[in-house]
Amino acid sequence: MKLDLPFVRAQFPAFSEPTLEGWAFFENAGGSYPCIQFIDKLTAFYMKNKVQPYYPYPASTKGGEMMDTSYRRMAEYLNVDASEIHFGPSTSQNVYVLANAMRPMWEDGDEIIVSCQDHEANAGAWRRLSKTGIKVIEWHVDPQTGLLNIETLEKLFSKRTKMVAFPHCSNVIGHINPVKEISKKAHRYGALSVVDGVGYAPHGFPDIKELGADIYLFSLYKTFGPHLGLVYVANALILQMENQSHFFKEGITRSMITPAGPDHAQIGSASGILDYFDAVYGHHYNDEANPTQKNKALNKLFRAHETALLDHLLAFLRSRSDVRIVGSDTVTDRLPIVSIIPRNKTVAEVYAKLTECQLMLGTGDFYAVRPLIDMKIPLDPGVLRMSFVHYTSMEEINQLIAGLEKAL
Ligand SMILES: Cc1ncc(COP(=O)(O)O)c(C=O)c1O
Repeated sequence: MKLDLPFVRAQFPAFSEPTLEGWAFFENAGGSYPCIQFIDKLTAFYMKNKVQPYYPYPASTKGGEMMDTSYRRMAEYLNVDASEIHFGPSTSQNVYVLANAMRPMWEDGDEIIVSCQDHEANAGAWRRLSKTGIKVIEWHVDPQTGLLNIETLEKLFSKRTKMVAFPHCSNVIGHINPVKEISKKAHRYGALSVVDGVGYAPHGFPDIKELGADIYLFSLYKTFGPHLGLVYVANALILQMENQSHFFKEGITRSMITPAGPDHAQIGSASGILDYFDAVYGHHYNDEANPTQKNKALNKLFRAHETALLDHLLAFLRSRSDVRIVGSDTVTDRLPIVSIIPRNKTVAEVYAKLTECQLMLGTGDFYAVRPLIDMKIPLDPGVLRMSFVHYTSMEEINQLIAGLEKAL
């Protein structure tokens, strides 16, 4: 089965937007284009249901139902229970709240392992706990490859280890970490695994049950939807946390790690992402599958398309002596998040030329400050990052390659 790209692109208004015509988008790891199903739901919510939800009058009841639908359907796609899904303003803020909620679960002198491959979202708030008596152990990346090594992790555990925080996929080198294996290791030591899935989820939603993570986070504005962060927390675990909401919310798990009132409209429209996934599934397959099965099939479909494009881009980059690929230069265990450093020109010069060629991409440290420090890459100018997802076309990759040929 091959991804029907014209069908996919027809679901994204950005591809028919006149002001974006000619521009190829390669900053998807910063935030993806939203799909029409989500945009329609958000617009409808604002026009018809923008009232306090869960009252018995129709506009309110419907608003509440839309929110509940998003919790339920997200859970079905991620293969967890609806009560284990939480929506907060962003992944950074969600981790911040979790760190405060989890600190009382631990004693002074307890240890947490925090990877140095993370975006600061899954690093800073944990590290700050060192000021409160928690010992923070750093899991450094290999300075040459940027990879996290499992044998290195093994040596960091102790009887006092309570948690390991790491990314599913790095937002600079695009490498996929073996979440299942790492989570199992953590569990053997009685520790929790906290996984930042922000880099991973835009390339296919994970089966969280299969991964075995205790906490899994990602950002819906990078998965074709609203500017929200989604957190999965195992039910038994959230009840051990300190309530971060109003005192009378104690024990109400949907509220405990959402101190601010949630964004009703964005939550209510988040299921638009799954309407899109359902539409893609229905277009390609002629059967009745459950959401977990659909998700598995979509993952394969998306990954095959992305990998073919990634292979082409990496082959071009490997053929150039004037560029350094940061991280692995093959498609194995890798998602299409590709960072490079030009060898003969400055990042700024190359970036300016690429912009002239109507290429939208990113440059800098991408808040992945610690991985860049470990790899001894200067934060300023940092790297040039090209990231794409399943709606990207081979024509756009060729536009990028043509741009790089001029710019490098
Ligand atoms: C890998 C990764 N983790 C976390 C974040 C932070 O997400 P948010 O903007 O929702 O706080 C980002 C944002 O770029 C990211 O790329």
